[in-house]
Amino acid sequence: MTPTTNAVDARLWVIIPAAGSGRRIPGDEPKQYARVAGRSVLEWSIEPFLRRDDVAGIVVAIAAADERWEHLRLATHRLIRTVPGGAERAQSVQHALQALQGFAHAQDWVLVHDAARPCLDANDLELLIKALATDAVGGLLATPLTDTVKHSDDENCVIRTVCRERLWRALTPQMFRYGALTEALARARASGQSVTDEASAMEMAGLRPRLIGGRPDNIKITLPADLELAERILAGRNRA
Ligand code: CTP
Ligand code: MG
Repeated sequence: MTPTTNAVDARLWVIIPAAGSGRRIPGDEPKQYARVAGRSVLEWSIEPFLRRDDVAGIVVAIAAADERWEHLRLATHRLIRTVPGGAERAQSVQHALQALQGFAHAQDWVLVHDAARPCLDANDLELLIKALATDAVGGLLATPLTDTVKHSDDENCVIRTVCRERLWRALTPQMFRYGALTEALARARASGQSVTDEASAMEMAGLRPRLIGGRPDNIKITLPADLELAERILAGRNRA
């Protein structure tokens, strides 16, 4: 059984890594600034957190050369501040964690959510926060794999079918305690191991993040077609 911790005093902080350049989508504009359903991807990604009344602060990591952020209405929001991003996503998250030093306590929660995930549903966010509120470690939104999974060789020929049982797609937000996450990311970096999400850093530290089943339409914008898909998802929700 997972040990539990008293949730009463733990505050919620949000980190939005938004310092990537979106190289898998052609063009000069990083994908987090692309417009879908009337707003930028980044604004959609931050919005579910601003609709809550229990968020203590939001740190957005943006690229040093970013000239777009300051033109967003959110740029002057009282709960939001920015930090310069790093070369990798994990470093951008580390910079944001550093900015919380002196504000966040070790037991406070940090929710890390990709700037490139504009379709996070407010109910999923609530589900994640509720499910983990008294957990010692934390966890992440994830969705079970439903397609049959193939392993290929370098000519895209199938070598074998992978058993998909108990395989999940890791989504964001990922929710961990401020102290433990800061330590886990620092250790992962010192050991030269690359981490593409916070959960991997926690796993390397011997911890077992919990997977909280979320909606599969919490997609990460990665390829051009994902922008059209996000447009349909968001426009559909707003009509509902
Ligand atoms: N990110 C970041 N700092 C980096 C790299 C990525 O803050 N140095 C952010 C991105 O802005 C994005 C999230 O991490 O919100 C997920 O990364 P990914 O989808 O890989 O975005 P990019 O790195 O921008 O895209 P690509 O890998 O296609 O270049
Ligand atoms: Mg990337």
